[in-house]
Amino acid sequence: MRVVIEANVQRVGEVAAEILAAQVRRDPRSVLGLATGGTPCGCYRELIAIHRRDGLDFSQVRTFNLDEYWGISPDHPQSYHTFMRAELFQYLNLCPANCHLPRGDASDSIAESERYERGIRDAGGIDIQLLGLGRNGHIGFNEPGSSLASRTRVKHLARQTIDDNARFFGAPELVPRSAITMGVQTILDARHCLLLATGISKAGAIAAAVEGPVTAAIPASALQLHPQVTVIVDEDAAAELRNREYYLLAEQGRRESSEYESPQH
Ligand code: GLP
Repeated sequence: MRVVIEANVQRVGEVAAEILAAQVRRDPRSVLGLATGGTPCGCYRELIAIHRRDGLDFSQVRTFNLDEYWGISPDHPQSYHTFMRAELFQYLNLCPANCHLPRGDASDSIAESERYERGIRDAGGIDIQLLGLGRNGHIGFNEPGSSLASRTRVKHLARQTIDDNARFFGAPELVPRSAITMGVQTILDARHCLLLATGISKAGAIAAAVEGPVTAAIPASALQLHPQVTVIVDEDAAAELRNREYYLLAEQGRRESSEYESPQH
């Protein structure tokens, strides 16, 4: 794992956006895995700025989001479809037919899950998967206990997740009880995973994901099994990392020499 500790939330967004932009410059037909929640918003703002400033072209980019609330339609004001349009899609020259999210209003969850997995496979797999982190260690909506071999399916939300997401719905009782989410293995199939976390409330989950044992109790810890993971955190989210000094040293080394630069972390 490459662990990048940045001074503040703004820098986390900038560094993440630069990694995504570099991928799109390298391959204009890139497949980006996208995430929702508060954490990726800074990254999206910066990506929009790069698009405007440098004319970065998204016309051939394909996107797949991690998840969607189950039981709500794409035009629901709190759906992740609506979130992605509001925070990112409307500002880039993406082709709407290339932007994919699982449908929360599908009648058959198994058929919809298989359709989504097939879509990712048919696109050639995900080049970079952006990830936020739940306070309980979830990625996507893979709550603690999720199989590390799981694929897209409907999962019940944990109490803490419902409470954390109540701010978007106005009250916990309005938050859907389940969601359709890429599985842990679907996420691990991406060629590069980019995990972002900011704020002191994520410090415990980051330490567990990066330095704890690989366990279904902390689904994000499965990322330790992936050869190319970049974790970008601010100082607050890094507060409980035991190997902080090493991560800073390694980043300094990367900046000073690219001789032994390898995509494997
Ligand atoms: C939701 C999403 C996750 C996200 C998490 C953290 O549960 N399904 O993908 O990582 O929230 O959200 P936030 O970034 O707002 O802390």
